[in-house]
This record gives sequence, structure tokens and C-alpha cells, in this order.
Amino acid sequence: MDFPFPVVETTEGAARLLVPDVPRRRGPATAGPWPFYNPTMAVNRDLSAIVLRRWPQRLTSVLDGLAATGAWGIRMALEAGVRALTLNERSEIAVDLIRENVRRNDLHADIRAGDLRTRLSEADYDFVDIDPFGPPTPFLPAAFEAPEVAGGIGVTATDTAVLCGTYPDACQRRYDARPLRCPQGTEIGLRILIGYCARLAAARSKSVQPILAFAAEHFVRVLLVVVPRSRPASLGRVVRAGPGHFVRVSGLAGDWIGPLWLGPMSSSEILGRLSPTAWTSGGSARLLASLQGESDAAPFFVTTDELAAEERASPPKLERFTAGLREIGYRATRTHFHPRGVKTDAPPEDVRRVFRDRAPSGSTDGSAPAS
Ligand SMILES: C[S@@+](CC[C@H](N)C(=O)[O-])C[C@H]1O[C@@H](n2cnc3c(N)ncnc32)[C@H](O)[C@@H]1O
Repeated sequence: MDFPFPVVETTEGAARLLVPDVPRRRGPATAGPWPFYNPTMAVNRDLSAIVLRRWPQRLTSVLDGLAATGAWGIRMALEAGVRALTLNERSEIAVDLIRENVRRNDLHADIRAGDLRTRLSEADYDFVDIDPFGPPTPFLPAAFEAPEVAGGIGVTATDTAVLCGTYPDACQRRYDARPLRCPQGTEIGLRILIGYCARLAAARSKSVQPILAFAAEHFVRVLLVVVPRSRPASLGRVVRAGPGHFVRVSGLAGDWIGPLWLGPMSSSEILGRLSPTAWTSGGSARLLASLQGESDAAPFFVTTDELAAEERASPPKLERFTAGLREIGYRATRTHFHPRGVKTDAPPEDVRRVFRDRAPSGSTDGSAPAS
């Protein structure tokens, strides 16, 4: 088949794909004249395929709502064994490429050309995936409106500068929430996204249970089960009380952050059963291990950068710091959100004490640390 743009063959996971052979740049996706394919998003599809293989509910019919080249939908069918696959895409030129890619992988799929919101109003699916350019907010109300989304929804957001605090006014407009630009900004942004989904669900007498949520590259991602009945949502507002220390608040006074999801971001039970497959890249496998390590940790984390600034001392090696916290009975684990972040249940005073104990000797500048 001929396409009005150069194409090249590639493989990703179990899929053999024909994709536009065009210059790419790293970073968030933007719409171009040809169908969109971003190999750096393979980490998103790798982890999503692993979790869909162990999805807590039966997945018969799935919808890749914004399919582009069909990369993710095809991987869902090949790697997660989904039987009835629908690929939806607004761009006619992309739909032609999807057809070719479905054929190349010997699959049968229902391929639809149209607006995702219309598709969601016309049919029910066990799992719906929403992976847009930028914010998912234009599509989420329709996804939660669908009567039978009892299976689940996968949501990717690439408007991380908005969710993670660089553009707080835009976050307020899009997600009706206040972010914070800080070392924990990405976790806050992901919790704002999950909280937004929880609020949409609650408005329709449904609730959500996150199965897996993570950040990588320039995106945040959550895969959640939509429960067709309301349950008290783990939503709240917090204020930043110190390095990595966020305290829940009930009033609307002050510099609060949120509303955001304060419950578990993943199912540790399901996460514990996941393992890389033959199609998982090394980087994705490492991210999975990191997510498994932190799956039942409490919200937020402290960074040794923040503590070093506050204590005016050089930071200890992260392993020494986490070991010190564990030796006095606390939990401490690294987090995928930040290379120098530690999730711990230790109170702030013990966090600082261990930091000081484990800081390289002679590294303080001799002045009194900030209290
Ligand atoms: C970021 S790309 C999707 C990438 C794809 N999920 C993947 O894994 O490679 C977003 C796609 O959504 C399509 N799109 C944008 N608005 C749409 C709408 N309202 N309905 C259906 N498709 C839409 C665009 O044409 C584009 O192909």
C-alpha cells in the first residue's frame, strides 16, 4: 500500500509496524501532518501491556481510542491476549496506516474513523485507552459517562508542565486543582490526574481503583478500574510543611495543593504478580522493579537535595540514608519519581537525624541547621 509520506518498518514489543519515516524529537507529542508514532513512548506501552495481562477483570473488548499507527492497540491484542480489539482514530490518513498494521500482524480488528467521544457514546468496552496529545481532559467525561466502563480506563497525560506546577493557572482551568512546582511535583501531578478521574467517577456514582500509575519520560500514566458504584474517594488537599513533608488540610485557607488522590496509586497485590515479558525492554523492566519496590509506600517522598540544603551538609549516599532509616525501624525505599528521592514513614525529625548521622563527616559548614 502507498502512503503520502515516507514509511519505515519497525518492531515494538510483539508488534511489527509500519510507521512514518520522519524526523523526531524527544519530548511531548505534537500533532503533525502524518500519523504519530513516538518510540520513546514504548515504555508506556511495555508497562501497560504487562499489567493488562494480569488485569483484575475479564478483558474481552478493548478500545484504543486515539490509535495513531495502532501501535498500542496491536500490542494489547498480541501481548495481553485481548480478543475483540477496536482501534479508533480521527485522522483518515492514520486509519489507512492502522489497517495496514493490523494486516501485518495477522489480526482482526474493528477499525473506526471518527471522534473518540462519539465512539464512547455508541459502544461499551471492558477497557478504554486514552493517549492524547497533551491533556486527556477533553475525553475523560465521555469515558466516565459510558454506562459499562466497569473494566477500566488507561489515561496518559503529556501536559506535565501543567500538572506538575509550571503553569498553575492552566492546571486550575483544566483539572480544577492546584499543583506545586517542587521536587515532588511529578507525584503531585499524577495524584491530581487520578483525583480528577475520581471526581468524574463520583459525579456519576462510580468510583476508581488505580491498578498502576507511574511517570516516565515526559508523561504520567494511570490504569484504573472503574467500579460501578460510589465509594468514599481518597481525595484531599495538602500543604507542604517541610522537605518531603505534606500535611492534609481540611479548610481552603493558605497555600494548599489539590484536590488530589491520597490513596494507593497502584494495587500492590497485582503489581507483585507482574513480571517482564520477552517483549519488555531493559529500561521498562527496571521501571517495573522500581514501581514494585515502592507500591505500598505512603504518598510523597523526601529528597536528599532538599535535606542537604536545609541541613547545610553534603548528602549521604542514598543507600546509606535508606539503610539508616531502616536500621531504626522505619520503612525506606527509593522512588521512580526522583533519582534522589526516598519514600519513608519516618517522621521529619528522624529523617533529619538519620540524614545528619549519615552525611559524610566534615561535610557540614558549621553553621546551625535550619530548624
Ligand atoms: C498521541 S497520538 C496517540 C498515540 C498512540 N496512542 C500510540 O500509542 O502511538 C493522539 C492521536 O489522537 C488522534 N486524535 C486527536 N483527537 C481525536 C479525537 N477527537 N478522536 C479520535 N482521534 C483523535 C490524533 O490524530 C493522534 O493520532
